[in-house]
Amino acid sequence: MRIPFIAGNWKMFKTVHEAVVFVKELRSAVKDVADVEIVVAPPFTAVHAVAEAARNSNIGVAAQDLYWEREGAFTGEVSAAMIKEAGAEYVIVGHSERRRLFGDTDAIVNRKTSAAIGAGLTPIVCIGETLEERERNETLAILDRQIKDGLDGLGAPQLADIVVAYEPVWAIGTGRTATAAQAGEAHAHIRKRLRQWFGADAADRCHLLYGGSVKPDNIAELVAEADVDGALVGGASLDVKSFTEIVVRSRRAAV
Ligand code: PGA
Repeated sequence: MRIPFIAGNWKMFKTVHEAVVFVKELRSAVKDVADVEIVVAPPFTAVHAVAEAARNSNIGVAAQDLYWEREGAFTGEVSAAMIKEAGAEYVIVGHSERRRLFGDTDAIVNRKTSAAIGAGLTPIVCIGETLEERERNETLAILDRQIKDGLDGLGAPQLADIVVAYEPVWAIGTGRTATAAQAGEAHAHIRKRLRQWFGADAADRCHLLYGGSVKPDNIAELVAEADVDGALVGGASLDVKSFTEIVVRSRRAAV
């Protein structure tokens, strides 16, 4: 029912020119892949050019953040409607780098998620525990809080259409991937909570991605876990070859 979903988060990498070159190459590399949702998230400056380069292809485009107001005196911010008009269909919300470096709280994540949905964008909402929280055995409680507060006010139909990314903070950019069993456990817990809070139907339609040092050689075992529907990929998404490998292997592994 849920086809694999692979999103590349480019973070603050790639100029407009580099982004367009990448997407042209990716487009031909994945042109025959019909059963994986493929998304790239360039920096704001390249969203429009990437969306143009990906037009009429199987590649979707995400922004990496948004501001929740429609417009106004908010220097440096970008609204959901602006992102949508630039050609993106998705937007990443609450990435741990936003939470850690720029002060995004669960309440802010909630506002951004609602604003994204309101403008017709699909939010990719990131949650995940820090190393200290895991060591204190708080992982599942942290996930509960992030889901409850971050998705507060959403109805079942909205939940069904969003994407949730479980990204343990200690696995991001560290080369330290969660084991498939650790990812599987967290994902099963998240799905269970979504079922309790939004109903089984919506929870079973919602895509749950794993993120944190995903590479071509670990994607297959991750998506072999029942509740891991794909990946949010950072470093390994910056290279066409490794990103394509991840896309292709996510497909082979899914049954
Ligand atoms: P990484 O980043 O794959 O480089 O660990 C993942 C992310 O931050 O989404």
